[in-house]
Amino acid sequence: MSRFARILPFFWRYRARMGAGLALVGLVSIAELWIPLLLKEAIDHPHDLARVRDLVLLVLALGLGSGVLRFLQRWYLVGASRYAERDLKEALFEKLTRLDPPFFHQNRSGDLLSRATSDVEALRMFLGPGVMYIAKPIVAVPIAIALLLREAPWWVVLVVGIPLLLIAVVMRRLSPRLEQDSLAVQESLGALSDKAQENFSGQRVVKAFGREEAECAAWSGLSETYLERNLALARSRARLGTLLSSSRDLAAILILAVGGMAMLGADFSAGDYFLFTSYVGQLYWPLIAIGWWLGMYHRAGAAAKRLDAIFDAVPAVQWPAQGQEPAHPRGEIEVRQLSFGYTPERPVLHELSFHVPAGTTLGLVGRTGSGKSTLLHLLAHLYPLPRGTVAIDGVDLLDWSRAGLRRLFGFVPQDGFLFAETIRENLSYGRSEAPSLEEIVRTAELAQLAGEIRGFPKGYETLVGERGITLSGGQRQRACIARALLHDPKILVFDDSLSAVDTSTEAALLATLREVARGKTTIIVAHRLSSVMEADQILVLDEGRIVERGKHAELLATGGWYAKTWNRQRLEGELESL
Ligand SMILES: Nc1ncnc2c1ncn2[C@@H]1O[C@H](COP(=O)(O)OP(=O)(O)OP(=O)(O)O)[C@@H](O)[C@H]1O
Ligand SMILES: [Mg+2]
Repeated sequence: MSRFARILPFFWRYRARMGAGLALVGLVSIAELWIPLLLKEAIDHPHDLARVRDLVLLVLALGLGSGVLRFLQRWYLVGASRYAERDLKEALFEKLTRLDPPFFHQNRSGDLLSRATSDVEALRMFLGPGVMYIAKPIVAVPIAIALLLREAPWWVVLVVGIPLLLIAVVMRRLSPRLEQDSLAVQESLGALSDKAQENFSGQRVVKAFGREEAECAAWSGLSETYLERNLALARSRARLGTLLSSSRDLAAILILAVGGMAMLGADFSAGDYFLFTSYVGQLYWPLIAIGWWLGMYHRAGAAAKRLDAIFDAVPAVQWPAQGQEPAHPRGEIEVRQLSFGYTPERPVLHELSFHVPAGTTLGLVGRTGSGKSTLLHLLAHLYPLPRGTVAIDGVDLLDWSRAGLRRLFGFVPQDGFLFAETIRENLSYGRSEAPSLEEIVRTAELAQLAGEIRGFPKGYETLVGERGITLSGGQRQRACIARALLHDPKILVFDDSLSAVDTSTEAALLATLREVARGKTTIIVAHRLSSVMEADQILVLDEGRIVERGKHAELLATGGWYAKTWNRQRLEGELESL
């Protein structure tokens, strides 16, 4: 059970409930075994009417009572497993939100999702209802054997018991196969829904490339696999069902045959026959459950291992226990000899050194893939980096507290990610206390977005995303800018955040940003050089190296990449305006 070491405490927390449930399993089993015993009495003494009446009344009372207890037993045990499931999922979610980008580069989100759903469910079944199912035979089988031995010779009990034992063995052997088959079906269903999802959201691309037939063919292939796996599952189930019911029938025939022989010897009554048949009926399912539970062991163990891998994962970025945070952060950035690679074999940044005085603007330009976003992510400490390479306000990045650093940065990400929530909720995202509507409107105006929001059906309460409106690329970018501004940070970072707006909106945005960013440090990454021409300092990156640095005019004078790109873009702009 050591492989469940980390999972068991989630269930142990509800031991009182589980204990009560298990005690009830015992009581119910005793009541259920008692009933056939009473009925046997009645069958064997058909002429003693008063006795029969009392027995029938007692059976009724036991039947009703055990019904109520059975309800409570499920309530407690299944309930405890549901509470444990909730706690487990909460712990998983919390852990996952604490892990950083490197972990998510290594694990597909679909896989993480299936761990949080089907693996947790496998563990819940195994440790919750599963325990209930096996507690029953553990209590009932010894009692039943003891009671039967009182009524019939041992060899009768033995012969009848063998096919029942067979049930557990068959189940034990076949249930892993069943589990495998149903996992395969689930996987196949996952692939189908991924395919559908991708096709619906990418339908424009599919149509633009005329790939409808090819997509349908790919769907048929997946759908065929799904069918085959479902048929395999049906075959396994049918095979198992046949084996199980044959074992039960075999037991019934044996009772008839062996009991009949015993009856000839007069130590086996009609009541005994009834008792045997009832017990076989009663123990049939619990014995199946034992086999099923034992068969589940591997699947549950694998699930526990997969969850452990999440719980064991260590965030790549380690935050100090006693993090620092200057009382009055200014936003001064110092980078010294910073080198970095996502993997050791392939460095992406090479010995970058630069200084951004507090309250100034840094422009960061360079070819695509030159390492601009990477540098921004490092400044926000989203990836681990060596001590002594980055300091903010004179404090080494490794000594900053996480909360302090997060407060310091307002990030406008390159992909313009927004949540499927209302515009108002999206803009307020970084704030612990919700900003007033006036403040939101004011910020949206600064981000040049207010006019468009007014035109939306529900204004600021309009939903973004699949169930709401689809924002254009430029609208998303400006929504992300407004979100960062509302966060009111000391350092504002724009990762290519003006690329999807036209030049006149860009000019208006830059003008208001200069106002808003007064007293803040600003980093602007851009492909269009007009976005950075006013910056106090511009760095040109190429393959992770700073190849040019200076102000706009200085860079034009050197005649390097910046000057060439500037001239080309100006020419393109003039052609466009014609
Ligand atoms: N998560 C990652 N894992 C491995 N390599 C990465 C990862 N992210 C980026 N890279 C690589 O790092 C290099 C720099 O990428 P980066 O995104 O920083 O470039 P960029 O200058 O922002 O480009 P763009 O202008 O296109 O946004 C690229 O070669 C890219 O392939
Ligand atoms: Mg980038």
